[in-house]
Amino acid sequence: MPAVSASAPGKVILFGEHAVVYGQPAIAAPVTGVNVRVIVQANPLQPAGSIEIESPALSFHATRAELPEQHPLNTLFQQIEQYLRISRLPAMKIRINSTLPAGAGMGSSAAVSVALIRAISRYLGFPLENEQVNQIAYEVEKAFHGTPSGIDNTVITYQMPIFFVRNQPPQLIHLKEPLTLVIANAGEAPSTAQMVAGVRLRWQQYPQRYEQLFQRIGAIVQSARQILEFGSWQQLAPLMEENHRLLQEIGVSSPALDKLVEVSLRCGAYGAKLTGGGGGGNIICLIQPEEAEQVSQQLLNHGALHTWLTTLIPTEEGNQQ
Ligand code: MEV
Repeated sequence: MPAVSASAPGKVILFGEHAVVYGQPAIAAPVTGVNVRVIVQANPLQPAGSIEIESPALSFHATRAELPEQHPLNTLFQQIEQYLRISRLPAMKIRINSTLPAGAGMGSSAAVSVALIRAISRYLGFPLENEQVNQIAYEVEKAFHGTPSGIDNTVITYQMPIFFVRNQPPQLIHLKEPLTLVIANAGEAPSTAQMVAGVRLRWQQYPQRYEQLFQRIGAIVQSARQILEFGSWQQLAPLMEENHRLLQEIGVSSPALDKLVEVSLRCGAYGAKLTGGGGGGNIICLIQPEEAEQVSQQLLNHGALHTWLTTLIPTEEGNQQ
């Protein structure tokens, strides 16, 4: 069988992270400038079920037999076997290439899952639909992260900006105008699972206060959706600032993230906020395209470890790569 490949982009949460775990809506968008690419090929000398996975980019090399039972990749293989009703996957060699930084809140685990599910199912001659890819990727995300909302695997599967409510089908957002963002990395972050667990503890301690904060975030998300679909991008700026303040209140910002938000606003960004799990990781800044270079440079001068520029373009449908 010839080798088969598939890829998946990164993602940013534009509005609503954390509150989305508690049933509020959130908006996320794909970041196509970074991606995970998976190549699957036959391994004819090995017995069925023997799968070798190698990823220099993720410093990972193992066979399926070596993986602990609870390993997310085992969940992924078992889920594909169940969906395709096969007892054992054939012998395969899998290579995972990635330009997506792991642990930076850009959805690297979900991108690896989506690219793997697509590549393996195509290799077997039964390419899965988005809905099935998304369901399997969600099961794998649970094995990775505990109690994720499912927003990461969903936006990465559909490769379109989405309005997302937990346990509901995603609604694709058709942007009225392009949106230019600088993403800046403030350094290492605790895992998303840890950040989500921390919020859960505080929510259990102060349920009323946290419910109120989540509801305010939900209201911001609703307004942002209207603007993305019908308004002009500059109107998003105050919503980003308010969302960031609320994320500070729920305890998921950090001094490094706050500093980058402040620097970006001082040097010309219209709005800025942390994105994803927080505690470190990334911020997003909304900018006029002409300002991209100087905002990025200022962020790098003030402690950002890396920046990425991404433009969300109005399109009718997502792409499957
Ligand atoms: C992570 O990208 C977004 C969080 O809201 C967690 C989740 O939704 O699963 C922090």
